Amino acid sequence: MLAKKIIIANWKMNLNLSETLALAKKFKEKFAGFKEGEVVICPSTLTLDHVAKIIKTGKLKLGAQNVFWEDKGAYTGEISADMLVEAGCEYVIIGHSERRRYLFENYEMIHKKVRAVLETEKLAPIVCIGETIEEKESDKRDFVLVEQLQQALSGIDVFGNQQIIIAYEPVWAIGTGTAIEPSEAEYAHKIIKLALNDMFGMQVVSKNFRIIYGGSINSKNVKKFADLEDMNGLLVGGVGLKADDFFKVVKEITK
Ligand code: 13P
Repeated sequence: MLAKKIIIANWKMNLNLSETLALAKKFKEKFAGFKEGEVVICPSTLTLDHVAKIIKTGKLKLGAQNVFWEDKGAYTGEISADMLVEAGCEYVIIGHSERRRYLFENYEMIHKKVRAVLETEKLAPIVCIGETIEEKESDKRDFVLVEQLQQALSGIDVFGNQQIIIAYEPVWAIGTGTAIEPSEAEYAHKIIKLALNDMFGMQVVSKNFRIIYGGSINSKNVKKFADLEDMNGLLVGGVGLKADDFFKVVKEITK
């Protein structure tokens, strides 16, 4: 695995333009001298261009919350991978469970999005996977994770320094205030790594993939996640809206 941990703040649809700009400025100040890890902020699509201008000279990186798989044409309301690159993005979240739930995004779409993003060679996909509460309670978690990975990534060539982030987000832990047990996260990450090794080989996995956790991380529970094996970072929601707490989370996980 790559040495540097990556911490991604998904701001979802929580902030208007002025709130977004104010938070981006706070983040920029907080992380001015930060070198221990990579920090990515994912504001709403409408604000990407504005946020890019603010963080241009700092340490933060920009990510988007969604992308479409075609590069141009009659696709009302959609945004291409090249357009995100043009706006200054280096990352994009793909297949978040909220999109799977509310917009019926499925793994065929997710697969096409991953392909389109990798084709730009300038954008890294953050591919979200994770089981629902029903799947967890019926002991299907491991199967679901492997299946989701295969559907998202089978047949995809990874070359050079292309980066792929796999975000393990148990659907039932998102936004609830209660994170998964750290040992359970460690186990799930191991399953993910084994499945990736099977698909791409260990060398590619250690060079090109990072596996991160998301779901109700806060400045208190993060300590228990810091030393887990195969834990290459975090994807956070709520705590990413508070600059001070988010900074504590990042410091703790990159210690
Ligand atoms: P919370 O950290 O608010 O649980 O959200 C996690 C998430 O969905 C990040 O994408």
